[in-house]
Amino acid sequence: MYVQVNININKIIYLLTERLEMGISSRKGESFMTLTATMVVDKSFKIGEIDKRIYGSFIEHLGRAVYEGIYEPGHPDEDEQGFRKDVIRLVQELQVPLVRYPGGNFVSGYNWEDGVGPVSERPKRLDLAWRTTETNEIGTNEFVDWAKKVGAEVNMAVNLGSRGVDAARNLVEYCNHPSGSYWSDLRISHGYKDPHNIKTWCLGNEMDGPWQIGQKTAEEYGRVAAEAGKVMKLVDPSIELVACGSSNSKMATFADWEATVLDHTYDYVDYISLHTYYGNRDDDLANYLAQSMDMDEFIRSVIAIADYVKAKKRSKKTIHLSFDEWNVWFHSNEADRQITPWSVAPPLLEDIYTFEDALLVGSMLITLLKHADRVKIACLAQLVNVIAPIMTEKGGPAWKQAIFYPYMHASVYGRGVALQAQISSPKYDSKDFTDVPYLDAAVVHLEEAEEVTIFAVNKHQTESLNLQCDMRSFEGYHVLEHIVLEHENMKATNQGREQVTPHHNGDSAIDQGRLTANLAKLSWNVIRLGKK
Ligand code: AHR
Repeated sequence: MYVQVNININKIIYLLTERLEMGISSRKGESFMTLTATMVVDKSFKIGEIDKRIYGSFIEHLGRAVYEGIYEPGHPDEDEQGFRKDVIRLVQELQVPLVRYPGGNFVSGYNWEDGVGPVSERPKRLDLAWRTTETNEIGTNEFVDWAKKVGAEVNMAVNLGSRGVDAARNLVEYCNHPSGSYWSDLRISHGYKDPHNIKTWCLGNEMDGPWQIGQKTAEEYGRVAAEAGKVMKLVDPSIELVACGSSNSKMATFADWEATVLDHTYDYVDYISLHTYYGNRDDDLANYLAQSMDMDEFIRSVIAIADYVKAKKRSKKTIHLSFDEWNVWFHSNEADRQITPWSVAPPLLEDIYTFEDALLVGSMLITLLKHADRVKIACLAQLVNVIAPIMTEKGGPAWKQAIFYPYMHASVYGRGVALQAQISSPKYDSKDFTDVPYLDAAVVHLEEAEEVTIFAVNKHQTESLNLQCDMRSFEGYHVLEHIVLEHENMKATNQGREQVTPHHNGDSAIDQGRLTANLAKLSWNVIRLGKK
């Protein structure tokens, strides 16, 4: 009984606080309640330079990502290599700077040698990760060609599941050594005279997962990753390496895994990876939109672990974070159980995203920006057809999912320096989270263009948020545009008909360095300010 009374009092205090933060506003003669949030932004309060690679993505040999996704010979819009030009254009629109390849779980059973040389001689193999058949029509060289076409660099993963040090060092030699050695000369004989110069490499994938081909303990993985990394850097000292962190923060070995792996690999690697996927399985919107807080906590924990190992080793080197798989993933779980095993490029992981997913993706992007000082690489998993912002129809058009928009806005306008905004927002509690701010926001300053962009999500389900932002250090700036993604139906998708698309009629104005913006209930906002 005592506990019950306490909870109720807390709830009452919470509700009163929320009401106090609401004021009465009047516009166009009507009177309505307004929820207010404040923000102070100063150009000298910097989190850090944003590494453009945080807008990376991922193409795995999985489902229809490669075949029927980026590559479809015979498609009316194919190029001379059979790549879909409509898909290339959409990837260019997203300005994706880096693409992880070829997996994912796939890489842990992949023989990279199967994917080079004359296509007619390449073997068909069983892909045990996804129980499909891999034809190997696309391999390393073709993928590098495609990445050049879209303007992205490749983040190459090596197989530390079924293979190890030797295959990894040979692939680095094949890709990056200029000439005069067995593997570099083989590349040249395959028609690629110039080295690919691939800069970032992943040392395996999710090696802690029981589903992974060649799963390892942290000790086993730490040792092989250290040796593979050491030898890969002997072949090409200019490369950067990503060690596998936990598959997600709910793994039983999370934290110990990172500490042990970094203990072994600290001197050889540059990044530790993080992966996370969320889903609205219980159809609980408030709780679903709060998941970005889990992502934030995950990032903070991994930074703490990496810095603990740094301190333990008395090292001067800082390990950065590569959040190389993140997204919403749950819509397709049931359909995937119906796929016939060993088919070629079946429709696996084809989540059709809703408007509410786009809001969470927006909040996840904001979370990455808030950690721009430590998260240097991040990959939206994935890019085409497989849990992706871009979908294709065989022989038909390519189309943009709802999540395409926040990802594109962040990638296009989120370049420069991330600023440390002082945010004060009313909050709510949900099933798994307490003190969830209704306002999620990140601020980016692109000094050379004299532009500032505010990315903001209002998570309130019924009220618009009145944002009052002190931006007096940005003298002479005015609002260039206020882009809004909003929809009455949280479950609206773009399948069949483009319903979830942004408009440019956001309501914001700046007067003497004080910005006032109206953030519609459940909306993603991009407020762009500049001097021109
Ligand atoms: O992105 C889909 C899969 O999710 C990847 O193959 C794997 O690394 C993760 O479990």
